[in-house]
Amino acid sequence: MKKINISIDIDYFSTKSELSSEFQNLLEKADEATKTSYSPYSNFQVGAAIELENGEIISGSNQENAAYPSGLCAERVAIFAAASRFPGVKIKNIAILARKKGSINHTPVAPCGSCRQVLVEYESNQKEPIRLVLRAEKEGYIIPQSISDLLPISFTKDNLM
Ligand code: THU
Repeated sequence: MKKINISIDIDYFSTKSELSSEFQNLLEKADEATKTSYSPYSNFQVGAAIELENGEIISGSNQENAAYPSGLCAERVAIFAAASRFPGVKIKNIAILARKKGSINHTPVAPCGSCRQVLVEYESNQKEPIRLVLRAEKEGYIIPQSISDLLPISFTKDNLM
């Protein structure tokens, strides 16, 4: 038996001004998107903004439903919109943040497991890493190197062959 260690590198910035203007802008778009959240059940408003290689920015917010599992996270709303409007166009960056009852959420909101699964497939298809920026205000800004870093040993379409 041997142990395999998996470690990841994360870029961490303690203030917004240290971030590139690209990331600052994307976080603003994600914040704007929280206003379109339909979240009467959780009161947790999530916004995601995706920057494509062609310069387009597509944002999305979480959409809930009285039949709870029928709702969808902000990240998947955004990425499915991006992929259906601009199929095959590479995704450069994604910003994600949340508000709880309108006020800023101070802990980083990382994508849930289902969103990671969806994001990692687009990343694998495009053969280029997608950068993800998470806002935590008081706690800083967190940027992993890729989505696959957040979902090691993932289930992929290769498993189906
Ligand atoms: N949510 C997201 O939109 N993204 C995440 O990564 C985590 C959770 C939403 C789903 C639901 O509408 C609310 O947040 C509470 O779970």
